[in-house]
Amino acid sequence: MVRDIVIYPDKRLKLISKEVTSFDNELHTLLDDMYDTMINKKGVGLASIQIGIPKRVLIINLPIEKENGKDEQPKENTLEIINPIFIEKSGVERHQEGCLSVPGIYEDIERAKYIKIEYQDRYGKKCKIEDDGFLAVAIQHEIDHLDGKVFIEKLSFIKRKKFEREWKKRRKNTL
Ligand code: CO
Repeated sequence: MVRDIVIYPDKRLKLISKEVTSFDNELHTLLDDMYDTMINKKGVGLASIQIGIPKRVLIINLPIEKENGKDEQPKENTLEIINPIFIEKSGVERHQEGCLSVPGIYEDIERAKYIKIEYQDRYGKKCKIEDDGFLAVAIQHEIDHLDGKVFIEKLSFIKRKKFEREWKKRRKNTL
């Protein structure tokens, strides 16, 4: 089921999400709804607070390009990450990021280049994953959401001011 996305500057985006302790049907429905919502809004990642649920749950599904030139995000390719913790982080890299909670805004953000995390899957099984490409960027972006942070907070003071002015104008025009 597609759910509503929480849009910046909604205060819920500042919440510190709570650890998941039961890996039950309720969690599975949440994960399934997150996938439906992410696909519906054409995103590549989503944290559960973005649909208003403050749990340490995030999903990522990086599109794969098909032979016909179309991008696909099959459900079975979804990386479901619960209760993640960084066990390694190194290097620095800048990459353009966007966010379904700040639609239409894309900015270069500095992150660690390489990361390794430990997490649980939908059944509570402990897993590890490491990456030094765009997946690493996406994971760091989504884990920030679990800690109440949105990517535009990483902008320089001047860029942030410029963003806030543009965002206010844009919100006025769409309301
Ligand atoms: Co985001």
